[in-house]
Amino acid sequence: MAELTIDNKRVRVEEGSTVLETARSAGIHIPTFCYYETLSPYGACRLCTVEVHRKGGSWLVASCLLRAEEGMVISTNTPRVVEARKILSELLLARCPNVKEVQKLAKSFGVGKPRFRLKDERCILCGRCVRACREIVKVGAISLVNRGKEREMKSPFHTPSSTCIGCGTCLYVCPTDAVDLGEIKLKETVHSWGVDFETRMCRICGEYHFAPEYGFDYEELKRGDS
Ligand code: SF4
Ligand code: FES
Repeated sequence: MAELTIDNKRVRVEEGSTVLETARSAGIHIPTFCYYETLSPYGACRLCTVEVHRKGGSWLVASCLLRAEEGMVISTNTPRVVEARKILSELLLARCPNVKEVQKLAKSFGVGKPRFRLKDERCILCGRCVRACREIVKVGAISLVNRGKEREMKSPFHTPSSTCIGCGTCLYVCPTDAVDLGEIKLKETVHSWGVDFETRMCRICGEYHFAPEYGFDYEELKRGDS
């Protein structure tokens, strides 16, 4: 176990936990976007920034990547931290001015009209979909490509994915509804990362489609059922 101080509160935690997990276990709120409990931390959004105090100095660090250590002293809500989160939310709002979650975040920091050039994206480049596809589904059909302002979420080489199984996990973990596979219920096919998948009809109601057929084949193949 390690004991650290977060916002003047002493917290004991298992070795290996992150500062974000530790703060949350103590009921301390830290905003996040790219963090997802069952995925490896990625450190993309920096919203979880906290201030670490050591030897008379202090540093801003992403708490989702920072391991909790004995004796650490952390502040989650200092003027420096709030200012950093405010600028980050302003940048996000400039990129995604029409995304509700981003609007909500910006509003919570008192950010009005962004000073930066406006775009109209939905994707905040948090990488949750990429990690979920790789770590949960174990497929790796999509990735974040290019650098700087050209960075985007795509299937390899911008071509229809040859490995996507149409499971929709990317859609499920996306915090901004940037992944759109269409309304599956009444469709015989669903379009995922450039590929059309036939959907399976519900055997009970016999009325609605509920999941891509290929996803079932893939699972059976993995389990060795076929
Ligand atoms: S599509 Fe969604 S989950 Fe994927 S990087 Fe963009 S915002 Fe994140
Ligand atoms: S939640 Fe830590 S960097 Fe995004």
